[in-house]
Amino acid sequence: MTSPDLQHQQKESWGSKAGVILAVAGSAVGLGNFLRFPGTAVNNGGGAFMVPYIISFLLLGIPIVWCEWTMGRLGGRYGQNNGAGILYAIWRKAPAKGIGALTLLVPIVVYMYYVLLEALCLRYSVAYFTGGFDAHIGAAVEGIAKNTAAYNDAVAGASVEYAMDQFALKSNGAMFESSMLWYVCVCFLVNFVIIYRGVTRGIETFCKFAMPLLIGCAIIVLVRVLTLDNIGTGLGFMWNPKWELLKNPEVWMRAAGQIFFSLSVGFGLILCYSSYLKPSDDVVLTSLSASSANEFCEVILGGLIVVPAAFLFLGSSHTPESTFQVGFFTVPAIMHLMPFGGNFFGGMWFGLLFLAAVTSSLSMLQPAIAFLEDGFGLRRPVSVTLLAIITAAGASLVMYFSLNAQALDFTDFACEFMMIVAGLAQVLIFGWVIGAERGVNETNRGSDFKLPSFMPFMIRYLTPAFLIIVLSLWCYYNAPDRLRSMSPEYKGIEAALVAEFPDEFTGEDGAKKKIERVREIQSKPRATKPTWYTQPTEAVKAKIADARLNANIARFSIVGVGLLFIIITAAIDIACRNRIGQTIAHREHLESLMEA
Ligand code: ALA
Repeated sequence: MTSPDLQHQQKESWGSKAGVILAVAGSAVGLGNFLRFPGTAVNNGGGAFMVPYIISFLLLGIPIVWCEWTMGRLGGRYGQNNGAGILYAIWRKAPAKGIGALTLLVPIVVYMYYVLLEALCLRYSVAYFTGGFDAHIGAAVEGIAKNTAAYNDAVAGASVEYAMDQFALKSNGAMFESSMLWYVCVCFLVNFVIIYRGVTRGIETFCKFAMPLLIGCAIIVLVRVLTLDNIGTGLGFMWNPKWELLKNPEVWMRAAGQIFFSLSVGFGLILCYSSYLKPSDDVVLTSLSASSANEFCEVILGGLIVVPAAFLFLGSSHTPESTFQVGFFTVPAIMHLMPFGGNFFGGMWFGLLFLAAVTSSLSMLQPAIAFLEDGFGLRRPVSVTLLAIITAAGASLVMYFSLNAQALDFTDFACEFMMIVAGLAQVLIFGWVIGAERGVNETNRGSDFKLPSFMPFMIRYLTPAFLIIVLSLWCYYNAPDRLRSMSPEYKGIEAALVAEFPDEFTGEDGAKKKIERVREIQSKPRATKPTWYTQPTEAVKAKIADARLNANIARFSIVGVGLLFIIITAAIDIACRNRIGQTIAHREHLESLMEA
């Protein structure tokens, strides 16, 4: 048997326990904590949202995190630092390659749009500190008396316009002609230089400086927000429980999805980071510390800043819904309206978001770097260059198709689905392939604190059952709407219908009525379709064309992600038959000699 270059395989390991905790916490703490969480919580029951959230954290987050840490550390023993090699070392069967492909695909694809949001945070931070944002708002509110509702509304409107321009939400291709292109290039450079320096000198060193700094900045902004006059009303708006919403399954699904995204579960990141641990390094408390740091940033820092301040300045009609709306429509306006030092706090807030995004995006790049090196023996300059080209190509497509953030939205949707599938697959491998009892014994190795005795039962039955329910709910609620939005004809009819009858589909059952009506028109032969659709006015024609284009971008995004999945699976197959397979066999041979 030819053994691969094991000297090269004997790569790095974390420099210190604090370093690994900060790096994993850095991976988890990101835009999801500061932007996604507050919007999701306020729209899904406020204080009541914490019930499904905490249950998901305990039943889903913590057990899967332990499984991933254990499997990662185990895979490291077989010379594997990438999810595909780690899962293949544990389960020498074909499905392991497909699941492994998800653990590489999800972080790469998330990176392709995450880096754009990262660049936007940097753009805003610079715009606040240099006064550029102030100047834009100043022009929009000229002549309107300060501290009036009209003034606040004008600020909110100008802030939405600013975000739409920066992110080129109104037309495809426009981002390439704006300064955003340079900010994206800077983010790529920062990320790839750190990744090039490696796990200890790059990621660990950066996170050791960035994490305390960003938490410090967040605490300063939090103190500023909590000392605003009447902030109690904002906190009440955010956290007053709406218990009746707990009957809605979608709220439970949102809570589980938030835990997945926020803890970076199912991304393959934890598998990768924990594979750099030594075989006897503790995983139980280390992972708990990283998860607790993430929860502190999410619930305390994320939950008390954005929405309470938004309510205070803009009222409930400006309650943000999506991550993008929270981050770039609402927050810039409230920072501007903040008395005493709004520009300073705005610059600091977006600066901390930028740091949080960098620590997360580094962890999205490392699994693929590790795969290229473990699987094909590539040297660092080659693996970094190759990954930079692949991610730049993907990010360029997301940047180009910026109209209504359609490409971003669809890649995010595809990733959310793949993440939950990958999480479920990993917990099943732990519980049924390794065996829950054996797996938990492996988790306990090197730890002073042992997992409770009910853990094997939970990992084998409860967590997978809960995940299957979440996945089914997700398919039931999200998939039909998404599938419809990929049909150019459906979207075209819908656009014409809304333009023609703007008041007909409002109210509680408006959405349902609209779906039925569009379906009915869609099923008719062309000759009997209404003339407002077949011979529309110029204005409606433009709306139909936009809607059809959006649907095509959505299709293109899904097909692109599917193709990437096939290419990565093929690469994993080749690597497992060659270098990864040989490394694992060699390590097994060495272990058996040592045991003998
Ligand atoms: N866990 C990362 C975040 O929250 C991806 O942004």
